[in-house]
Amino acid sequence: MPAVQSITEEILDLKRQRRAMILAHHYQDSEIQDLADAIGDSLELSRAAQKFDGDVIAFCGVVFMAETAKVLNPARTVVLPDLEAGCSLVDACPAPRVRVFRERHPDHAIVSYINTSVEVKAESDILCTSRNAVKIVNSIPAEKPILFLPDINLGNYVKQQTGRENMKIWQGSCIVHATFAARRLTSARAAHPTALVAAHPECPPDVLAMADFIGSTSAIVDWCVTTPHDEFIVMTESGVGHSLRLRAPEKNFHFVPNENCNCSECPYMRRNTLEKLRDALANLSPRIELEPELIERARLPIERMLAVR
Ligand code: 13P
Ligand code: SF4
Repeated sequence: MPAVQSITEEILDLKRQRRAMILAHHYQDSEIQDLADAIGDSLELSRAAQKFDGDVIAFCGVVFMAETAKVLNPARTVVLPDLEAGCSLVDACPAPRVRVFRERHPDHAIVSYINTSVEVKAESDILCTSRNAVKIVNSIPAEKPILFLPDINLGNYVKQQTGRENMKIWQGSCIVHATFAARRLTSARAAHPTALVAAHPECPPDVLAMADFIGSTSAIVDWCVTTPHDEFIVMTESGVGHSLRLRAPEKNFHFVPNENCNCSECPYMRRNTLEKLRDALANLSPRIELEPELIERARLPIERMLAVR
């Protein structure tokens, strides 16, 4: 009788057969992260997708990330284990409303967070991620008015960091980070009085005001690992705990539950499973399919962002 393959072996076999690369965001389940060729924040995964030269990208993240990978790799097949893996920020910012803004305010530069649909990207002048948003806004001439979309907390943080007055901010928010409450962070600090606080910029301003460090998911991981301190409260999705525990097993990391689900997991990100990843590689579906004209229009603002060093 042939030996029964574990699901991990099946995925690794399929990966070889398909000449595939597995990309995983930090918010994926740890068993998915363990199989990935690259784990990272949105910017790092965009860059990894750009450098790839195989046939298939299996993107373990959410739809807007897989769409970005497709825009940067139009000739490659991009699969996502679950097409329902959306994002509340994408939902808060429909492309027709962005088009209306553009028509009414043709003088504004539209700076879009990567957490937007590909249609919104196509309407944008330049993209940004949580890692480079301050740098991207600073790269725009000071006299040029800006619309920053769609995350209100990231937008306010960028406005504060850049001192940019002529910046309008969309009213979208992340269902995970926007519901982290300062009073829960205060309780966590009381329980762990020596811990330093690291926060993602999608958190509300009163949470960010209590942070010792603010940055993207990868920046948070790097900061906690390299800072000579042994205890941290981490205000982002608890999936980053996997890299933190692997890279700094001697340190302690605490996650604070949000008001929405009393956990700190993104319900969209966590739709992906090993079984769905295996099936996506086996069937090359669900697949990201985009019109060539849409890819062309969305690529320019992404490339402008990638060119800003
Ligand atoms: P990062 O770019 O920091 O990985 O963030 C992506 C995201 O969706 C945060 O909620
Ligand atoms: Fe979107 Fe928030 Fe989930 Fe990130 S954590 S994918 S911003 S809903």
